[in-house]
Amino acid sequence: MCGIVGFSGKIPAAPVLLDGLAKLEYRGYDSTGICTFDHGEFFLTKKQGRLSNLAEATDDGKNMPGEAGIGHTRWATHGAPSDVNAHPHMSWNGKIVVVHNGIIENYLLLKEMLTEKGVTFQSETDTEVACNLLAWCYEETGDLRSALLRALDMIEGSYALVVMCKDVPGTILSAKKASPLIYGFGKDFGFVASDVTAVLRYTREVVYLDDDEIVEMDAEHVTFLDRQGNEIQKTPEHVDWEISAAEKGGYDHFMLKEIYEQPTAFAKTISPRIRDHHIVLDDISLDEEYLKKLSRIYVVACGSAYYVGCVGKYVIEKLCRVPVEPMLASEFRYCDPLCDENTLVLIISQSGETADTLAALREAKRRGARTLAIVNVVGSSISKEADDVIYTWAGPEIAVATTKAYSTQLAIVDILALYIAQTLKRITKEEYDTILTAFEKLPEQISEILTEENVEIIKQYARQFHQVEDVYFIGRHVDNATCLEGSLKLKEIAYIHSEAYAAGELKHGPISLIEDGTLVVSVATNGMLFDKTMSNIKETKARGAKVLGITNRTHAQRMLDTVDCEFVIPDTEPILQPSLSVVPLQLFSYYVSLERGCDIDKPRNLAKSVTVE
Ligand code: G6P
Repeated sequence: MCGIVGFSGKIPAAPVLLDGLAKLEYRGYDSTGICTFDHGEFFLTKKQGRLSNLAEATDDGKNMPGEAGIGHTRWATHGAPSDVNAHPHMSWNGKIVVVHNGIIENYLLLKEMLTEKGVTFQSETDTEVACNLLAWCYEETGDLRSALLRALDMIEGSYALVVMCKDVPGTILSAKKASPLIYGFGKDFGFVASDVTAVLRYTREVVYLDDDEIVEMDAEHVTFLDRQGNEIQKTPEHVDWEISAAEKGGYDHFMLKEIYEQPTAFAKTISPRIRDHHIVLDDISLDEEYLKKLSRIYVVACGSAYYVGCVGKYVIEKLCRVPVEPMLASEFRYCDPLCDENTLVLIISQSGETADTLAALREAKRRGARTLAIVNVVGSSISKEADDVIYTWAGPEIAVATTKAYSTQLAIVDILALYIAQTLKRITKEEYDTILTAFEKLPEQISEILTEENVEIIKQYARQFHQVEDVYFIGRHVDNATCLEGSLKLKEIAYIHSEAYAAGELKHGPISLIEDGTLVVSVATNGMLFDKTMSNIKETKARGAKVLGITNRTHAQRMLDTVDCEFVIPDTEPILQPSLSVVPLQLFSYYVSLERGCDIDKPRNLAKSVTVE
């Protein structure tokens, strides 16, 4: 959470910082600030609320002189969103300014120590403590690098810390531990930022910093250091994302753009892994010898990525006959998981930085399990620390509520399941061929769902139902897992209370909440379970529910006989239906949220990259 950007160049820094922050707002958006440096003076502006407030206060950066500066967009942890708690923070003696992403865990102790020395504080933040600690170390050492190294020795927690000092014009010093940080560069400028999207407009040449590394830069120079202060070499990488990938490109919201990008993202993710109608995963080390000993798979993740794991349980168990347990990352760490060298822990994360997921990965490794990460962001902490990584090639996902990352994660889980099943010879060649053929058709079928005519149907349902306050999603088997994601989407962006329940479980409690007009969304695509789900739908209708059914062409007529309205998706293999049935649920949440006037891309209280536990 929190987005940070630093720039040193030969053009005014403030507009560049504002532009970078606009790309990082998805990381947090309750307050923002920038500080520039010009002729020995700091110019600091901080504003509660969205970036537009800061842009207004600084006349789009025009009233902030200087060619070097740092900026921040915040998701509050310590201290409420306010001007004073916003970053950058300036040290009590006016020497140092700092922006920070992460949490300084021992900030109270450090604050007490500094207060005893006469240091004063303005805000409630842990970041101001880091800033004052650094300024105090600077007073003692008289050298910024040494001061940073000394301060880092005393800090416990996570940080991407970006620092400017009054005595070192144009220089920006940054350190990273468990929070993302990249360095981007071009002729006569350097950047540090939380994410490459902030710098894409200016450069595609970046260096991904590892934990415990430090970068010192100005417009023309850069030096990388380890935690002992020794110089180290880092290799730049070229980012091939298009600039347009991080822009709305004519869509009203990033979420809508990303929903429409799903066919392409899906195809891009799977195509390098299918050759001559065969799944090829030669970049990971899960060979037959290892897989034969595999005793259990945990799928560990948070939010929507966890719900991918819930679908994955059905898919992998069905095809591979290996026990699969999806687990929330925040629970995995503390549940004394049964891991040994024959356990595979699948870690799923779009950002590759989610704190709970990263901690779970480390715990799995500590316990001797093999770890395989499914990650979207190249160079992220999880991608680096896992034993193996399979990237989803979804491109940058900006909307807080995930769509294309979810779809591509699911695609990789399907690929992996087929790969393991084939390697272990748990499915016949015919089954493998049939499923793979159906799988390769999915991008085209997702496009079929996204036709104007279909989207119009969803818009109508959104207009009809947008005022409801409670929604129950029901389904069985993989449809139940899809319902979990559909329900989360509605909560996240439309602020509607919703629950997803296994259809057969409804009668054990939640049915008591169904009354006249309650909306029930039912996903029913599985032939074997279709009639059973229909019975559950009838039970809700008998109690006054209005039912929106999602089904495939095979069952469309029979569904329509029972429900109030329906949306029909194409047919595919039963275990692959989730890749299709999630799309109308994404669209439904989007248009309901639009009808309710919510801030779709930046829902209240949420952030996309959750780097706190
Ligand atoms: C946040 C996002 C969700 C996402 C979850 C896990 O809650 O809003 O969309 O599923 O984090 O994020 P990750 O980056 O680990 O996939």
